[in-house]
Formats: sequence, structure tokens, C-alpha cells
Amino acid sequence: MKQKLAEIVKQVEESVKSVTEAKDIEQLRVKYLGKKGELTLVLRGMGALTPEERPLIGKMANDVREKIEFLINDAFEKISENENIEKLKKEKIDVTMPGTKYTLGKKHPLTLVIEEIENVFLGLGYKIAEGPEVELDYYNFEALNIQEGHPARDEQDTFYISKEVVLRTQTSPVQIRVMEKSEPPIKIICPGRVYRSDAVDATHSPVFHQIEGLVVDKGITMADLRGTLEIFAKSMFGQDTKIRFRPHHFPFTEPSAEVDVSCWNCHGEGCKVCRGEGWVEILGAGMVHPKVLKNCGIDPEIYSGFAFGLGVERTAMGRFNIDDLRLLYENDVRFLNQF
Ligand code: PHE
Repeated sequence: MKQKLAEIVKQVEESVKSVTEAKDIEQLRVKYLGKKGELTLVLRGMGALTPEERPLIGKMANDVREKIEFLINDAFEKISENENIEKLKKEKIDVTMPGTKYTLGKKHPLTLVIEEIENVFLGLGYKIAEGPEVELDYYNFEALNIQEGHPARDEQDTFYISKEVVLRTQTSPVQIRVMEKSEPPIKIICPGRVYRSDAVDATHSPVFHQIEGLVVDKGITMADLRGTLEIFAKSMFGQDTKIRFRPHHFPFTEPSAEVDVSCWNCHGEGCKVCRGEGWVEILGAGMVHPKVLKNCGIDPEIYSGFAFGLGVERTAMGRFNIDDLRLLYENDVRFLNQF
């Protein structure tokens, strides 16, 4: 029996040497220490021993068990350590490999200009308002004092959805919506898309953008309008920019004006951009017509206001020296990447 025990130890010593995987070690454990393992089988035979031999062999068997456990555990540790090292080697990341390149999109020049203009007016204490692009005829024309028979209401100028519903031709209807809902003082700008039945060319598009401005309070005068637009023009086109008011007619402002800025390209000398004029028209403006205030439940005897409507495309073309409006809608990334 002694011999048998010694043999088992030898066998285990040999086996652990050739084992390379953790799962094989488990098999060894079962083979020698398990319920039906070799050691157990030997111990079963203890019944046949004499009472003198039993404690001796018993002790020996315990030593052998400990020895086998030690051998197996030791081998297991070594192997799992190796396996870990192998695993880590496999998972190693080569930080010098070129990564996957993600190209980030950019803001469209029209968005850039709208944000720039918004920032100027937010800085002056204005709030941003919005209104629907599919608008009631009442807000787009009627409430703005644009009478039946006015050329702007002609089908050649306006996209009609039905007799009462149109694609808004200007952002001015937002003025009405805001005045109907709020009390003065009012100080808002409303950027948005507008639609006119125009053929596409270098300066026209049936869809374009405007930014409306509206201020209503006690004692607002044309001087406030002028000062405001001057600040705006200087922050958009440079501190040496001048502005010029030309008399005009809008049914919803009185008096009305078209407003030019000194040419950003030639600074007033006259060039291709301003067609030799030295000035470029960028917006319409005026004092809110008393009828319009009344239409919205605001007493024109107490309050007055100014409004202006600015062409975003025109401003963007000036800001970025773009000579054809169509480029803004073609979505050619070679063009868009420049801004
Ligand atoms: N809505 C006018 C246009 O589209 C511009 C404008 C706005 C004029 C506000 C005066 C006041 O031409």
C-alpha cells in the first residue's frame, strides 16, 4: 500500500508537468482526489490492514493527499497565470495604428448668419419668436393692412394652399401673432423661412429666409430704429459701415423705408457687388402703422413701435462674398466647407 501511495505521488508529479490548460488540471484533480479517484480507491483498502498498520498508513495517506493538492494547486496557479498573460497579449491594443476617421459636419452659412444676427439682437435684450410657415391669409396680409387687390396678394407672387391659407410671403405675420398675445413692451426678432412664387436665378429663390424685428413701447421713435439698425450693420459688416434710409412704402409701416448699408466690398467706392452704387439694400423697415397696432388690440395713442424685415440670404452673400444665391441651396460640400 505504501508503494501504491508513493506511485500515485510520482504519477501526479509527472502529470502536472505535461499539463498546459486549466481544464486539464481539473481533470487531474478528479482523477486522483475525486470520489472515485485513485487515492480514494487506495484508502478503501485500509480495512484490510492490521490495527498497527492503520494509523501509519492513514498518516501517510493524508500526507499524500496534501502533497497531491499542493502539486495540483501549484500547477493550476502557474497555468492560469500563463493563460492570463496570453490573453493580455492577444488583447493588446496598438495605439500607433491609425484610427477610424469620423468627419464632423459643419453649420450651413445661412445658419451661421442667422445665429450671428440672433446674437446681436439677444445682446440688445430681444427675445426670439416663431410663427408657422403655412399661414392664414389674415396674418400674412389682412392684419398687416395689405388690402384686397394689393399686388403681393396676386397668385403670381404668393403660393396659395386655399383661399384662406398661404405659404407665408414674409415673416411679418409673426409681428401680429406676438402683438395679439402680449402686452408692450415688446422686443422680438423672428427668423424663418418664407415663400414667394419667384423663378430661380442668381438673386431669387422661391424659398428664402427673413428675420423680422419688432419693438413696441411708449415713446418709440424712428431714431430708435435708426440707432438699432446702425448697431446691427456695424456688428455684421464692420465698424466703419454706414446705413442709409430711402423712403419707401409698406402697408404695415408708416413712415416706411428701405435700408441700405455701405458696400462691404468697396466701402462706398462703387464695385461689382454694389453695382457701382456704393450701397447695398438689405432690409425694409418703418414705424408700425397705427391700424396694425389697433388690429392687435394695442392703443396707438399710448404706444408706438418700429419693425424691420431683413433678407438672410442677402446678408449671408454680403458677409461671405457669395455671388450666386443658388450656391446656398445646392449642398455641394466643397462650397459649404469654406465657412
Ligand atoms: N415684410 C417686408 C418684406 O418682406 C419687410 C418689412 C418688415 C418692412 C417689417 C417693414 C417692416 O419686404
